[in-house]
Amino acid sequence: MKIPPVKGTRDFYPPQMAVHNFINDGWKRASIRNGFEEYDGPIFEYLKMYQIKSGDEIVDQLFNFKDRGDRHLAIRPEITPTLARMVNQQINALSKPIKWFSVPRLCRAERPQKGRLREFYQWNIDIIGIDDVLADAEIIFTTIDYLRQLGLKPADVKAKISSRKLLAALLCNIGIPEEKLDSLYPLLDKKAKLPADTFEELLKENVCDGAKVKTILDLMSVDSVEKISDIINLNQEAQAALDEIKHLFDLLAVMDIGEYCVFDMSIVRGLAYYTGVVFEVHDMVGDLRAIAGGGRYDNLLRDFGGPAISATGMGMGDCVLEILLRQRGLLKDGQLQTRKVEFFVAYVNDELLKNVLEITARLRQADISTSFSYKAQNLKKQLKQAAALNAEKCIILGDELEQGQIVIKDMSTGEQSCVDMGEFFKNL
Ligand code: HAM
Repeated sequence: MKIPPVKGTRDFYPPQMAVHNFINDGWKRASIRNGFEEYDGPIFEYLKMYQIKSGDEIVDQLFNFKDRGDRHLAIRPEITPTLARMVNQQINALSKPIKWFSVPRLCRAERPQKGRLREFYQWNIDIIGIDDVLADAEIIFTTIDYLRQLGLKPADVKAKISSRKLLAALLCNIGIPEEKLDSLYPLLDKKAKLPADTFEELLKENVCDGAKVKTILDLMSVDSVEKISDIINLNQEAQAALDEIKHLFDLLAVMDIGEYCVFDMSIVRGLAYYTGVVFEVHDMVGDLRAIAGGGRYDNLLRDFGGPAISATGMGMGDCVLEILLRQRGLLKDGQLQTRKVEFFVAYVNDELLKNVLEITARLRQADISTSFSYKAQNLKKQLKQAAALNAEKCIILGDELEQGQIVIKDMSTGEQSCVDMGEFFKNL
């Protein structure tokens, strides 16, 4: 019986691995040009770490187990708690601000669906130690910088931005007690995923007041900062949060990504630790799940036993991104190389195998990727094999070798020349 892969996981055959590397290399390049340093942590952590502040949705999706020492462990569903733990551990030694990136492989036991799997890669960028929207602007800029470089335009993707600080101030303003907010956020976050009447029903159950439900529904559909004061009077806190968001949009415009950014009050985020600016990147044409999400989490390090240091960051998975790139024609099958062959060494009879191996070994030692045929089958077949491997050039070993010469064939132009082997190696 052939064993299939586990539901919600992927096998990365060479063509899929080439796609993975294409996405991953872009993430790394974008991180580096925006000034982030790479880090990583363990694949599993203590289960309790995720129970502190990630929120029920993630806790329900954990793959967890007990080790032989009876410790409750969990495979990482996100890397932000690991980051907070690692930074706390060396808080005095690390120079601030900390700007780190990582591309962890994560697992969430969620129902597999389009763009959501049980195992995926997620690009993370985080800035720790800057209590200023300038850091949020830089996180959003880096996110868009990557997507723009891929060829995605403002008509394709948008960063939808809001603020938990603003939402909290507005909700308190209409009489929602502060201690209720943590249970209300995950529900508000589901607005776009639920049918309108189901969402309203659940909101009624949570808030138990028709007038408040109506105001919340009106607030959730606000798409411009200016419209908020039409719905609700702004107290001092709400005004301050509103000014902060306006300032953020000014910064994003100066950074030339204004066209990629919109205000959207319905962005709340499901994770429990967010405290300020929150955002999600969505595809504007289809109906895909969020491409990326992030925001400010000023209390997480403190909640993990460290000092109260502010932080902001973003996570972007590879699944929705790949679907989107294919839909837009920015990623095509066969477009990416699975193997690089600079030279293919062909030979006309088996006695030359020793020479083939010597030449191959010398080229490989010079860091030049080289392949050869395991048998001296006829030359036409070997050249076909070289073409199938996408070899750039072929070295053909024939009778000329007795005079110390080799034939080099350029596979793209078909041009052939006879060169002295000593010269060839000297000029590498
Ligand atoms: P998140 O919203 O849970 O945030 O995930 C961020 C992104 O990861 C999503 O927008 C999506 O692209 C991808 N993602 C999440 N779950 C899955 C899944 N099951 N399959 C495929 N892709 C998925 C976080 O994880 C935060 N820790 C991000 C963050 C970093 N906030 C601050 N710093």
